[in-house]
Amino acid sequence: MSDKATLEINGTSYEFPLVKGTENEIGIDIKTLRSVTGGVITIDPGYKNTGSCESAITFLDGEKGILRYRGYSIEDLAEKADFLEVAYLLIFGELPNAETLEKFHADIKKESLVDEEMKKIIDAFPKSAHPMGVIASLTSALTAFNPTSVNVDSEEAMYNAIVRILGKFPVLVAWTMRKRQGLPLEYGDTSLGYVENVLKMMFRKPNEEYVTNKVVLDALDKLLILHADHEQNCSTSTVRITGSSHAGLFVSLAAGISALWGPLHGGANQAVIEMLEAIKEDGGDTKKYMAKAKDKSDPFRLMGFGHRVYKNFDPRAKIIKKSADEVLSNLGVEDPVLDIAKGLEKEALEDQYFVDRKLYPNVDFYSGIIYRALGIPTEMFTVMFSLGRLPGWIAQWKEMRLGKEPIGRPRQIYTGETYRPFKTMDKR
Ligand code: CMC
Repeated sequence: MSDKATLEINGTSYEFPLVKGTENEIGIDIKTLRSVTGGVITIDPGYKNTGSCESAITFLDGEKGILRYRGYSIEDLAEKADFLEVAYLLIFGELPNAETLEKFHADIKKESLVDEEMKKIIDAFPKSAHPMGVIASLTSALTAFNPTSVNVDSEEAMYNAIVRILGKFPVLVAWTMRKRQGLPLEYGDTSLGYVENVLKMMFRKPNEEYVTNKVVLDALDKLLILHADHEQNCSTSTVRITGSSHAGLFVSLAAGISALWGPLHGGANQAVIEMLEAIKEDGGDTKKYMAKAKDKSDPFRLMGFGHRVYKNFDPRAKIIKKSADEVLSNLGVEDPVLDIAKGLEKEALEDQYFVDRKLYPNVDFYSGIIYRALGIPTEMFTVMFSLGRLPGWIAQWKEMRLGKEPIGRPRQIYTGETYRPFKTMDKR
C-alpha cells in the first residue's frame, strides 16, 4: 500500500503523507493542505472523520467492539484491576507495581484536604443546584487555592498537580452530594482504599458508624474503571483543546466536566433513568416509546442507545449489563425499571430502524440502574461519571502538553453576507 494520499482539486494533484497507527489505523496528514492549495480546508462538522491528535492512551475499534487502555483489554481491567491501578496506568502508561501504587496512593492521600474556604463557595449554591454545575464550578475554584500554574517541563511539578487533583476531586464530589442532602461536609478516612474512601465520604451519617458494603464497593470500582477513558470523546477533546491554550489543569478539567454534562454524552446516565421512570409512570408501554424514538418529527431519542464510534456493540455495556443483574440480586434490590430496560433493549435489537442504524445499548443504558441500586441519587450519576473519567482527562491533558501540541483552533467555511456598506440608522 502506498504511504501517500493524492487529492485532486481543479485539475491539480496534491500528495499528502499517510499516518499509520500501531493498530493499522490510517489517517491522511493534511497539515500542509491549506498552504499548498492556497486556502482549501477540509470540513467535517462533529469531527466524524477527523483525528485531532496521535495518542498512545486508549484504543477502540467500534466495528469489533474493542476497548483497551494502554493495550490492556477493558474486560481484563474491569475484572482484575482496581480503579487506582487503572488511573495510574492511564496517566503514566504502565501498570504500577505494589510499591509504586502504594506511593501513588500515599501521595494522593496527602493531598486529600480541601481549603475550608471552599465550603463558603458550596454554601453559596442553592440546594437545588444541579451537582454537575456545582462540581464544574468547584473544580475551577480550586485554581484560586492552588494558583501556581503547572510547569509541564518538570516531571515533579506535573506529578504533584496530578496527585493534588486526584486527592481533592473525590472530596468535592462527596461535598456536592452532601450539600444537596443537607449533610455535614466532612473529610474521608485515609486508612481506606481510594474508592472505599469515596463511598465513606459520600454516605457516612454523622450519627452512625459507616460500614463498607463489599458488593457496593466492587460495583462502583468497576463502573469507574469502565468510564476511565474513551479516547477523543466530547469532554476529552474539550479538556485537550482548553489545555492547548496553556490554561491550567484544573480549569481544563472543569471545561471537560461541563462538556460531559450534556445528555448526548455523560448526562445520558441520568437521562436514561428519567426516561425509564417516565415509561413506567406512563403504564410501561415500551412500544409507544419505540415509535416515538423512530418518529423523525418527535425529538425523543431512546437514551442509552447509539454511539458515535461503536457500530456493533459497546463492550462496556456488555460488562455493565451482567454487573447490573449481579449487583441487584446481591443487594436484594428489585427495580422495576430494570425490566423495562430489558424489554426496551430486546425490542430495539429486533427493530429494523435500530438494526439499520447500528444502534445498540451503550455504557449508560445500565449504569444508572446500578448507581441507583448503590443509593446514589439520580442527579449525581453524571458526577460519578466525571470521577471515573478524571484519570482519562488527566492522561490526555498530560499527553497533549508533553507532546507540545499547538493551540486547537479549527477553521470554518463562512456562509454569511459578503461585504456590504454600513447602513446609517435612518436607512434601516
Ligand atoms: N434513538 C433514536 N434514534 C437515534 C438514536 C437514539 N438514541 N441515536 C441515533 N439515532 C438515529 C439518528 O436519528 C440518525 O437517524 P437518521 O440517519 O435517520 O437521521 C442515526 O441514528 C444516526 O444518528 P446520529 O445522531 O447521526 O449519530 P451520532 O454519532 O451523531 O450520535 C449519539 C451518537 C450517542 C449522540 C446518539 O446515538 C444519541 O443521541 N444517543 C442517545 C444519547 C446517549 O445515550 N448518549 C450516551 C453516549 S455513550 C456515553 C458517552 O460515552 O458519552
